[in-house]
Amino acid sequence: MLKALEIVLIAMASVTLAQPTTTDAPSKASEMLTNMTLEEKIGQMTQINLELFYDRETLALDEEKLAYYAGRGVGSYLQSPYAGGQSPVDNSTGWNATQWRGVMNQIQTATLNASRLDIPMIFGIDNVHGGTYVQGSTLFGQQICASATFNLDLVEKMGEVTGKDTAGAGMPWTFGPISDIATDPRWPRFYETFGEDPFLNKQMAVAITKGIQANGDVAACLKHFLGYGAADNGKDYANANINDYELLNYHAEPFRAAVRDAQAKSAMIGFNSINGVPVTASHKMTVDLLRGDMGFDGMLVTDYNEVYNLKDRHRISSSNEQSVEIATNQTSMDLNMVPNSDDFIDILIQLVNDGKISQERIDESVERILELKFDLGLFDTPVPGEDLVDTVGQQADQDLALELARESIVLVKNNNSMLPIPKEATVLVTGPSADNMGYMCGGWTTSWQGYQNNIPYAGFDTILSAMQGGNGTVVQGHTGVNIDGSKADDYDASIEAAKSSDYTVVVAGEHSYTEKPGDINDLSLAAGQQEYIKALAATGTKVILVLVEGRPRLLDGAADNVDAVLVAMLPCTSGGVAISEIIYGDVNPSGKLPFSYPKYSGNVPLVYYHLPSEICTSETNIYEIVECEMEWKFGHGMGYSTFEYSDLVVGDVEDGGNVSVSVTVTNTGDRAGKETVLLFLSQEYRQYAEPEVKMLKAFEKIDLDAGANQTVEFVLDSSAYSYYVPQIGEGYNSVSDAGATMKVLIGADTECDNDSVNPNQTNDSAFQERRRRRRQEDEPEVNPMCGAFEI
Ligand SMILES: *[C@@H]1O[C@H](CO)[C@@H](O)[C@H](O)[C@H]1NC(C)=O
Ligand SMILES: *[C@@H]1O[C@H](CO)[C@@H](O)[C@H](O)[C@H]1NC(C)=O
Ligand SMILES: *[C@@H]1O[C@H](CO)[C@@H](O)[C@H](O)[C@H]1NC(C)=O
Ligand SMILES: *[C@@H]1O[C@H](CO)[C@@H](O)[C@H](O)[C@H]1NC(C)=O
Ligand SMILES: *[C@@H]1O[C@H](CO)[C@@H](O)[C@H](O)[C@H]1NC(C)=O
Ligand SMILES: *[C@@H]1O[C@H](CO)[C@@H](O)[C@H](O)[C@H]1NC(C)=O
Ligand SMILES: *[C@@H]1O[C@H](CO)[C@@H](O)[C@H](O)[C@H]1NC(C)=O
Ligand SMILES: *[C@@H]1O[C@H](CO)[C@@H](O)[C@H](O)[C@H]1NC(C)=O
Ligand SMILES: *[C@@H]1O[C@H](CO)[C@@H](O)[C@H](O)[C@H]1NC(C)=O
Ligand SMILES: *[C@@H]1O[C@H](CO)[C@@H](O)[C@H](O)[C@H]1NC(C)=O
Ligand SMILES: *[C@@H]1O[C@H](CO)[C@@H](O)[C@H](O)[C@H]1NC(C)=O
Ligand SMILES: *[C@@H]1O[C@H](CO)[C@@H](O)[C@H](O)[C@H]1NC(C)=O
Repeated sequence: MLKALEIVLIAMASVTLAQPTTTDAPSKASEMLTNMTLEEKIGQMTQINLELFYDRETLALDEEKLAYYAGRGVGSYLQSPYAGGQSPVDNSTGWNATQWRGVMNQIQTATLNASRLDIPMIFGIDNVHGGTYVQGSTLFGQQICASATFNLDLVEKMGEVTGKDTAGAGMPWTFGPISDIATDPRWPRFYETFGEDPFLNKQMAVAITKGIQANGDVAACLKHFLGYGAADNGKDYANANINDYELLNYHAEPFRAAVRDAQAKSAMIGFNSINGVPVTASHKMTVDLLRGDMGFDGMLVTDYNEVYNLKDRHRISSSNEQSVEIATNQTSMDLNMVPNSDDFIDILIQLVNDGKISQERIDESVERILELKFDLGLFDTPVPGEDLVDTVGQQADQDLALELARESIVLVKNNNSMLPIPKEATVLVTGPSADNMGYMCGGWTTSWQGYQNNIPYAGFDTILSAMQGGNGTVVQGHTGVNIDGSKADDYDASIEAAKSSDYTVVVAGEHSYTEKPGDINDLSLAAGQQEYIKALAATGTKVILVLVEGRPRLLDGAADNVDAVLVAMLPCTSGGVAISEIIYGDVNPSGKLPFSYPKYSGNVPLVYYHLPSEICTSETNIYEIVECEMEWKFGHGMGYSTFEYSDLVVGDVEDGGNVSVSVTVTNTGDRAGKETVLLFLSQEYRQYAEPEVKMLKAFEKIDLDAGANQTVEFVLDSSAYSYYVPQIGEGYNSVSDAGATMKVLIGADTECDNDSVNPNQTNDSAFQERRRRRRQEDEPEVNPMCGAFEI
């Protein structure tokens, strides 16, 4: 068998074009299934952590242990041995593409040697923002940054590079994209998502999935099905209380869209429960909704140890045997990420032999697993991507990551157009994250929790080093405060340095983390960091606050006294250059917030598409009801150009249900700039249940020269003004309320909650009558960016 594999690999070297999808994968899979023993089948359903046969002393695979797992018929493996961090043996931080290929070859060789039917294994890796576990691969900002660009083309290309570098390292499967909607900013995996908005998440999930799977060698994995981003109290792995309306209309949408429009080949079940039922035990979620209503026929994997967590964490089972029975019987999971023992194989064989799990249930899953392996071409090319090795980390990809970083940085405050600053100014660059690449990359970068230093990132600029590359006088060597808020030794010297600097760039935020270790008790930015920011501002220097964080930490007023604020989130290795270019004006910022940046702890969590009853009481007049105040709203983000909107035209609903909306945007600034035009809809009244106050339904990012204008045309189809009524298990039932008025709101700051909708844009007589009555007392101004149509 070893010989055959070598021949395959040699043949592969001459192949340069992506392999077309193997359309006969289903028939090959079902044929193969008929020849398999129960042991072989259940081996296919098992995914084991590579660390079980990795020797930490020799930094190599233990051949004997590997042969053992291969002999057990294990069908899948995962993980980098560097997930836990740097090796104490030689300080290495990971394998490069060539080293990964060697390892993949070794595992595949052992697997095929032991497999009677020559079934290859499939290896999965968390390459979630570029080839995050492949040394030398291009690293992109985290998904929250990708989302802030509102640039689907860039995000699809980010997916392409991620897929290419994954294949280049010999791996056919990456555990991404994250398709969870993050409704709670306290959740430690907030930054791994595309933010809080269902529509934006949906568009982004489709774009990146298409990109990841573009080369035909790599499967994407939509995770984490379902509702993981709505964890109670913002605690990771926590139960999520979500009603069926929210499940269908918000949380399921990115999954459904990426299955339907991007043919996502696999998905992962989340760590969470929904309304107390772990999804890994939920027939309703994984069978009725995912397989039934959504029609997903790809491969479904569980999350790390989650089947056994049914006992250990969720306590709906009292033994591993019972956990395996529940997960297999009640869900449609195919592959069990066990991952630390192969006892699952024996347990499941026993359950089948005892008649507790049917043969058909096993066959159903094994068929999907084999189908994926045939589809990816693993039977012919067990280690994909030979022709891609030399492209891993290539300059064109690094340029793309920089472009994405430039478009992802969000300028949320710029008092008196203080930014950009002159290149000859004296600038103090300070703060705990000014010279720390680990903090700027976050978790899932080279290791699970990321790094808290610059060790794996030689050759890339931090914000400090990027600014030193310019022609200005950059005052360096001042940390001021540490990431936990404690004073650094140079605190006093830093304040002194600020006094004599025209400008001070203070880079504040969080250390790197993910999952449970990233839980917090307090969403506020470390008090010591807040005090430092205020102390700097008090010196009279002009302060530019740069926030490098994985979730929007409350600022408690710290941003009020600074002149400019950039929300950078986690732009990773391109962030230093991008931020420096923006501060000096070489790049005109164009990112917008893909989430609501909260101002007060009492308003957490609160997404912008909340219900009408989820509103606040005015602080100055307790009888006045107001929109809850945010630090910055969803969709907020400025540039160095100014854009004026005019000529909103809203059409009628046409035959077939489409509605056209157009608006003209003019760059009234003195330099070229990019602007994302946001279109929200708001249904004023809805009998079924409270309608969201508004929801994003379309967006387009345009690029305009100074003085130029462009008319942006949107065509909304009926899905924009309809919603799903919960009937999980019976298909998607889309309804809309005939006669209702849909308000059209252009731009993040546009409110049309009063009478400001132009009456000439709707034929809804009741709407006009209400408006006439209310106008008799106080004639409100018509907001030109509010329109309406009647459905
Ligand atoms: C299955 O077994 C049959 C009969 O032994 C054989 O003809 C066929 O090639 C086998 N198929 C696979 C996929 O191994
Ligand atoms: C690893 O790095 C540390 C810190 O730089 C150094 O002290 C140590 O000697 C290094 N160990 C090896 C094996 O290179
Ligand atoms: C990958 O690492 C190996 C071992 O350190 C080294 O020999 C090889 O040159 C590296 N390849 C690349 C492309 O950096
Ligand atoms: C191949 O399998 C045989 C047993 O079937 C085993 O003795 C041998 O070590 C295996 N070779 C490799 C390279 O795994
Ligand atoms: C699940 O268990 C029930 C009760 O034992 C049984 O009737 C059913 O066939 C099982 N379903 C599967 C998919 O094995
Ligand atoms: C620095 O100044 C030189 C000479 O004016 C110019 O060519 C160069 O582009 C400047 N570099 C930066 C980073 O602004
Ligand atoms: C911002 O501009 C206003 C008006 O010019 C000024 O009063 C204020 O002090 C400036 N600074 C900050 C930090 O808001
Ligand atoms: C409605 O608009 C969509 C694009 O949003 C378009 O694909 C579709 O063809 C349109 N349908 C009709 C009936 O015009
Ligand atoms: C848009 O630009 C064209 C060409 O310069 C000009 O004729 C037109 O008046 C502009 N429209 C608006 C709304 O500014
Ligand atoms: C609505 O149309 C009437 C009649 O054409 C016009 O007089 C009025 O100014 C329009 N109102 C607005 C707000 O555009
Ligand atoms: C309102 O209805 C009339 C008559 O049906 C039609 O002529 C007119 O174009 C409609 N106006 C709008 C803004 O839809
Ligand atoms: C209605 O809303 C618009 C836009 O937000 C605002 O300009 C106007 O003052 C409001 N009118 C009333 C009566 O609240």
